[in-house]
Amino acid sequence: MHALTSIQPVHIDLGDRSYPILIASSLLDNASTFASLPAGDTALVVTNVTVGPLYAQRLRYTLQQRYKTVHVLNLPDGEAHKSWETLNTIFDILLTQACDRKTVLFALGGGVVGDMTGFAAASYMRGVPFVQVPTTLLSQVDSSVGGKTGINHPLGKNMVGAFYQPLLVVCDLDTLKTLPNRELSAGLAEVIKYGPIADLQFLDWIEAHMDRLLGRDVESLAYAVRRSCEIKAWVVAQDERESGLRAILNFGHTFGHAIEAGMGYGNWLHGEAVGCGMIMAAVLSHELGLVDAAFVARLRTLVQRAGLPVIGPRLDASDNAGRYLELMRVDKKADAGAIRFVVIDGPSHATLRGASDAVVRKVVDACCA
Ligand code: NAD
Ligand code: GLY
Repeated sequence: MHALTSIQPVHIDLGDRSYPILIASSLLDNASTFASLPAGDTALVVTNVTVGPLYAQRLRYTLQQRYKTVHVLNLPDGEAHKSWETLNTIFDILLTQACDRKTVLFALGGGVVGDMTGFAAASYMRGVPFVQVPTTLLSQVDSSVGGKTGINHPLGKNMVGAFYQPLLVVCDLDTLKTLPNRELSAGLAEVIKYGPIADLQFLDWIEAHMDRLLGRDVESLAYAVRRSCEIKAWVVAQDERESGLRAILNFGHTFGHAIEAGMGYGNWLHGEAVGCGMIMAAVLSHELGLVDAAFVARLRTLVQRAGLPVIGPRLDASDNAGRYLELMRVDKKADAGAIRFVVIDGPSHATLRGASDAVVRKVVDACCA
């Protein structure tokens, strides 16, 4: 894989909290990657037991050219560990190592590490600087950008957290080489998402490049990460705290979060649940008369080509749709208990809509095993 260091950063424009997203190969090994960061004595690299052995020493070596002390913390791996207990271990090391307010936290890993490290950074001493170093496709195209941080609660996904922006996002494309195929597919779900909600040409491009993306062609991955980050940056710059527009980034997530919670965190990957959830949301859009059947079929084909499940799991043997409804009422977009769904209502346009329980039941029944 050749170096792609000439690629221009994507900028996320949030006034004095603006930051660049670097997208290239060989970033982890290059001290200049981190040249924009404020000086400080101490850095803490938060990673996990899978990613740490692969990349933590390389990052630590690079950071040691800038910080006197670089600690590394390996968290347990998996969505099931996105919890208070794991979060507390980050505070434990920060406190036992007497880390001060200038300590910079580096989240090295996928969305689970990134969300937890960001939340730790938001709350340790009421806020310390942090940097996202995403190593999954999903985290490079979505979770590392935009400042949503947090943990799961047994009763709801990502229900405890904070908006807290990183100083810098470093997407080293080389790290995607070691990503398991299932995780690559999960990341493609969030890439696909940007087409229907914002950019029909990008949807065309993804369809034309799906085989190359699955084959990890670096130029194709670079463009997919870049265009996804551009769209996300455009949305977040207009609505950082999700008072409106930003909700479109949750296309497929209402059904998807129900699948994740209902199956037990970690059984369906987040991206798998989102992929299947997008089909359910597209079917709902069709039921509401907003898109034609051809759009639903197009999306289903693309999700399937990405290697993702297209049939929803049964979450309850006797009242499956009722269980989906129950889980979806615990959603940050819910308004006074009424579920609101991101639906597609035009070419590359999405909006929030309510739907009757009867329509949702019809959609769940049509989409599940
Ligand atoms: P993940 O963090 O669990 O990573 C997936 C798996 O890949 C893990 O086992 C991890 O250890 C491993 N891994 C990571 N990088 C690797 C690499 N380079 N090589 C080999 N293995 C590697 O999952 P994810 O899909 O990255 O993120 C999902 C999480 O992100 C969910 O918790 C979801 O809620 C969250 N999320 C947050 C936002 C946001 O805006 N904050 C957006 C989307 C998703
Ligand atoms: N992933 C949804 C958001 O960042 O808003």
